[in-house]
Amino acid sequence: MQQRALGDIRVGAIGLGGMPMSIEGRPDAARSVATVHAALDAGVTLVDTADAYHRDAGEVGHNEQLIAGALRSWGGDAASVIVATKGGHLRPGDGSWTRNGDPAHLKAAAKASAQRLGVDAIGLYQFHRPDPKVPYAESVGALVELLDEGVIVRAGISNASVAQIDEANEVLGGRLVSVQNQLSPAFRSSLGELEHCAALGIAFLPWSPLGGISKAGELGSNHAAFAEVAQAHGVSPQQVALAWELSLADVVIPIPGASRPASIEDSVRAAELSLTPDELARLGA
Ligand SMILES: NC(=O)c1ccc[n+]([C@@H]2O[C@H](COP(=O)([O-])OP(=O)(O)OC[C@H]3O[C@@H](n4cnc5c(N)ncnc54)[C@H](OP(=O)(O)O)[C@@H]3O)[C@@H](O)[C@H]2O)c1
Repeated sequence: MQQRALGDIRVGAIGLGGMPMSIEGRPDAARSVATVHAALDAGVTLVDTADAYHRDAGEVGHNEQLIAGALRSWGGDAASVIVATKGGHLRPGDGSWTRNGDPAHLKAAAKASAQRLGVDAIGLYQFHRPDPKVPYAESVGALVELLDEGVIVRAGISNASVAQIDEANEVLGGRLVSVQNQLSPAFRSSLGELEHCAALGIAFLPWSPLGGISKAGELGSNHAAFAEVAQAHGVSPQQVALAWELSLADVVIPIPGASRPASIEDSVRAAELSLTPDELARLGA
């Protein structure tokens, strides 16, 4: 697969998002493991997870454990795969998502994530979402300590504005590696942050790149231009959406979610799909 920079390393241009395998509507463990294996077999080397990707109270880290297990049972070189996790969100078990950006929480959460992932140091640790109750610089300060203590190898942020990207990068002394924000054909309001990341050479990881778990299947019916370009190439509209995102800048690494092998196998092919300038202009309009 085409490779893109994630800080000092390069990863496959299409990653795998783990959330659909652990929240409401998740499949059984065997199908999830088959999905992770299909992604890795197809050349995915970046898997995105979070301690908050679970459904019920008392199962924090469900997705981290699932991915760690799938990596252990995979026949390939697991050392070549980066599992990127996050801290700062919590799920009390009633379907809601709450926040905790307290540095003490983030430091403890990262250590617990490393243990669940079975690694000495987490390849990429991302602060999941700004907590209005905690100054942003204080939350990001926890990432500095985690880097300096060797608990994490690289630091990223998520759901950040342009100002927060700059603030985080300053607090981190220029060591900010990635920004994970929502971006899809239906949700384009983070294009400003994407452009900012491109100017700084920071990886930009679009989340819900197909419009989210419940909307991904309707991408073609909701976005005619994507359906038309897909038909012309004989591919899925989802593949076209990912190829369009990849075309926006070479720092973009989409992380489409999947809970079925066929979904991620199709998505990965977007890394090799070439769209013409005319097609890209239609998709961007
Ligand atoms: N940082 C944040 O705040 C945040 C928020 C949300 C998500 N995320 C991350 O971003 C990842 C992706 O977002 P998401 O999972 O919410 O939404 P998404 O990637 O937009 O959509 C996921 C759904 O798309 C379907 N799909 C995937 N590839 C497909 C294809 N080629 N053709 C047809 N359908 C396809 C999958 O269906 P099947 O389930 O049937 O395979 C899956 O359930 C998450 O998994 C998570 O890692 C981060």
